[in-house]
Amino acid sequence: KRPLRIAPSILSADFSRLGEDVRAVVDDGADWVHLDVMDGHFVPNITFGPPIIAKLRGHTDAVFDCHLMIAPADPYLEAFAKAGSDRITVHQEAGPHLHRSLQTIRNLGKKAGVALNPATPVSTIENVIDDLDLILVMTVNPGFGGQAFIPAMLDKIEQVKALIGDRPIELQVDGGIAPDTVEAVTRAGANVLVAGSAIFGKAEGGSYRPAIDAMRSA
Ligand code: DX5
Ligand code: ZN
Repeated sequence: KRPLRIAPSILSADFSRLGEDVRAVVDDGADWVHLDVMDGHFVPNITFGPPIIAKLRGHTDAVFDCHLMIAPADPYLEAFAKAGSDRITVHQEAGPHLHRSLQTIRNLGKKAGVALNPATPVSTIENVIDDLDLILVMTVNPGFGGQAFIPAMLDKIEQVKALIGDRPIELQVDGGIAPDTVEAVTRAGANVLVAGSAIFGKAEGGSYRPAIDAMRSA
């Protein structure tokens, strides 16, 4: 069984003081830092790219878990690797050559992940299962923080868990993850929990620890 990991999404952090916020969330118990990259084309929102990640890299040694909501992704994989990403996840829907994208990420020495939008079936990744280090089941439509969890994704998480079997692949969920949805997603098989508003939106007395602990113990 994979260990439970909490991966705060900096999408809900204060972008004017990202360095401090990233350091704080790691000090307060985050396992990975989830970096949501959006291009205004694959998703209807724009965030940041490799230069910001490279600057953040100087603030912490924590695992940088880069979620690319961009299409095409392939021309930028090397830049995201060089910026200091430890893990790079591309969307299944972002291009026709998923196998090539995953191989490129591994050849750059990084862990390769694939994300599935809510409407995308699990069967679309069966044939690349051995090229994967992580599968991300989107539990909202990507693009924005603070959206409601889509309950129909629980069945999909179970399907992904069955597909993974005993392979060493992380099963990540992203979108609407909060203490009230953690039990259902972990029971279905998820072990990496991404959360933006449930962590960065919930500082107590300047600390994210209560919010992170609440996710871990839910
Ligand atoms: C959604 C992003 C998520 C987002 C989650 O497009 O991929 O990582 O930040 O935000 P919450 O946890 O607020 O749903
Ligand atoms: Zn994300």
